[in-house]
Amino acid sequence: MNMHAKHSADATTVEEGLAIQEEQAKFDDDFATETAMSNTLLTPRFYTTDFDELDAIDVTSVRKDWDALIAQMESDPNKGHFKKNEDWDHVDWDGMEPQLKAEFIDFLISSCTAEFSGCVLYKEMKRRGSNKDITQLFQLMARDEARHAGFINDALREAGLRVNLGFLTQSKKYTYFRPKFIYYATYLSEKIGYARYITIFRHLEANPEHRFHPIFKWFEEWCNDEFSHGEAFALLMKTDPKLTESFANKLWIKFFLTAVYSTMYVRDHQRPAFHAALGVDPDWYAHEVFTKTSVLTGQIFPLMLDIENPRWQRNLERMQRANVQIAQGKKAGGFGGFVKRMIGSARAGAAFVSLYTIPAIKHDVPDSTVLRPAY
Ligand SMILES: [Fe+2]
Ligand SMILES: [Fe+2]
Repeated sequence: MNMHAKHSADATTVEEGLAIQEEQAKFDDDFATETAMSNTLLTPRFYTTDFDELDAIDVTSVRKDWDALIAQMESDPNKGHFKKNEDWDHVDWDGMEPQLKAEFIDFLISSCTAEFSGCVLYKEMKRRGSNKDITQLFQLMARDEARHAGFINDALREAGLRVNLGFLTQSKKYTYFRPKFIYYATYLSEKIGYARYITIFRHLEANPEHRFHPIFKWFEEWCNDEFSHGEAFALLMKTDPKLTESFANKLWIKFFLTAVYSTMYVRDHQRPAFHAALGVDPDWYAHEVFTKTSVLTGQIFPLMLDIENPRWQRNLERMQRANVQIAQGKKAGGFGGFVKRMIGSARAGAAFVSLYTIPAIKHDVPDSTVLRPAY
């Protein structure tokens, strides 16, 4: 195969997409890879699970919707889309305000890591499984995530950076999650990913003067991929009603919603210059994304977080301040830094408990999970 003639956007399988990127790996950058390697509560992680249990899923009860979704993914509307073309405006990296540049690069590296984390998990499921329905789905999702990660790496390369995906696969720590936690966490990250990308895309459509980098022009098709992946996980969860109906699992769902929403809030508030350049107030953005994600996840989750409750915003802000304190403690080092970090951690924990104990809003889940991207 002539790797130079091909781009990861044109790859039809995950293996091909990764091989093309592997070929470019000689230009990798240590800084970007180190950033992607870091494991904190706020950075994207790599997951592993009980693949046999996943492989045993029987999709018969959702067959009609399943086949329609797989057919749409197989038709591959975004093949060839994730690469630079004439819409890719020149990026003046050297002229970019340093704080914005640092935050934007951090955003790109963390997005690339998150895309690649999905790619690795899905590819592994496809490799280990023997259930045709499951392996086919995971192959298709891994294909998409490899393209997404490849495209972000294209953008990073212009800034002289690049995440070494092969190295990450081998060296980054993997967190084990039981399959049901993978469903909740991955389903949520796909749907919140859709909500995040479409909110930025619509905002920049209305305010193009804030589009400081061309990658945002690609967000619409991008988020449609994530939307489909979320649909697939909704169907997988639908095959086992216990997953969303038992008392204990409802508590887990609430836990994952609270953890994913609050992590996003804290992480986004670490990038003030990035949001200012986009012309987006991070509090407005968080509220928008939570609102959309709550509506979407109503397709399968029997509860929504009460984000209008006054305790919600108040404790997000507490958690954010606690996080600043933890970061200051880390930076300061020594005994004083340690104490500061511990106090910050305790405060963040208390804020999380307060968020988690806000009564949730119960609702009836529709018979069919099927949704269309409507935002
Ligand atoms: Fe993706
Ligand atoms: Fe995805």
